[in-house]
Amino acid sequence: MTLALEFESKTVTALVYLSVFTGAYKIITVVLGYLSVLLDVFVLPGVSLNKYGAKKGHWAVVTGASDGIGKEYTLQLAKRGFNVVLVSRTLSKLESVQTEVQSKYNVETKLVSFDASLDSEESYQELADAIAGLPVTVLVNNVGQSHSIPVPFLETPIKELKDIITINNTATLRITQIVAPVIVTTARQKKTRGLILTMGSFGGLLPTPLLATYSGSKAFLQSWSSALAGELKSDNVDVELVISYLVTSAMSKIRRTSASIPSPKAFVASVFKSLGRRGGAQERYATSTPFWSHALMHWWIENTVGVYSAVANTLNLNMHQSIRARALKKAASKKE
Ligand SMILES: NC(=O)c1ccc[n+]([C@@H]2O[C@H](COP(=O)([O-])OP(=O)(O)OC[C@H]3O[C@@H](n4cnc5c(N)ncnc54)[C@H](OP(=O)(O)O)[C@@H]3O)[C@@H](O)[C@H]2O)c1
Repeated sequence: MTLALEFESKTVTALVYLSVFTGAYKIITVVLGYLSVLLDVFVLPGVSLNKYGAKKGHWAVVTGASDGIGKEYTLQLAKRGFNVVLVSRTLSKLESVQTEVQSKYNVETKLVSFDASLDSEESYQELADAIAGLPVTVLVNNVGQSHSIPVPFLETPIKELKDIITINNTATLRITQIVAPVIVTTARQKKTRGLILTMGSFGGLLPTPLLATYSGSKAFLQSWSSALAGELKSDNVDVELVISYLVTSAMSKIRRTSASIPSPKAFVASVFKSLGRRGGAQERYATSTPFWSHALMHWWIENTVGVYSAVANTLNLNMHQSIRARALKKAASKKE
């Protein structure tokens, strides 16, 4: 009887210690994780672009370079001394960005006008020809398309569905297969490092009802980019998925900036300020959520309700139902 009581009390004590230890471990890892976000976003410097051959005649390739975030990647890479190959659909818009780059910075530019939704071999060949012989060290996979307005998956027009997958996924993969080998060769020959950035999104971080196809396409990029990061590590090429919440642009249809919605200029500045740091994406390899408010949002969602939770899904559904209702009302009032 005494032995049994002694055993029972030892077991209870062990369980109490285990619970306290587990609780303390959990609290310490959460606190350290949050400190890491704050350090990454507000204190620690990122990797310098000099590591990728800035100001040494090296080239960057930017897709979706004629507008929004891609135009800003182009300008900020040129400002740091990279020659830039600008890729996107509309030649006149590319020419206008080219004029702006050349009036401000002493770098070279090349234009490749191509419609990524066509997935055409001819266009891929044009890109391959344009970069042949160039010492390319940076690729920014920025081109992307979302739904014109939030829409139930079952009502998504086939063309919109196909365009999103073709532009965001197929074309991004094909372009990377063309540019990455050139980056690997340049990094090896010039004894420098290569960099491949791909634009992710909160739409891919959180399953997003009424943007289901876009959401899936960006989630695909998360896995693909992280896998590629592992493959290209030994070739001295850094691969990073860049996660963003809303940014003012034609795609987001938001014009006014706020604490949570930066301009493309502020957003891209945050990317280059914290290259190689994870920001809000602490638990994700080769991934960064660099803009300060996006980083805090990412971390809090991940560490409270969780990105795959029913709560997050329902909140997201409600938000996009209301955006859809407003968009439909606006469209109806325009028709009248
Ligand atoms: N804005 C946001 O709130 C936000 C948030 C998270 C992630 N992102 C991601 O960031 C990236 C850039 O978004 P953004 O807001 O800057 O978009 P944006 O302002 O609409 O600019 C899109 C760029 O891509 C080009 N483009 C569009 N369709 C194309 C096609 N079929 N073929 C070739 N080029 C094409 C456009 O060229 P043309 O002008 O010639 O068509 C333009 O240069 C996207 O991957 C997006 O998913 C954006």
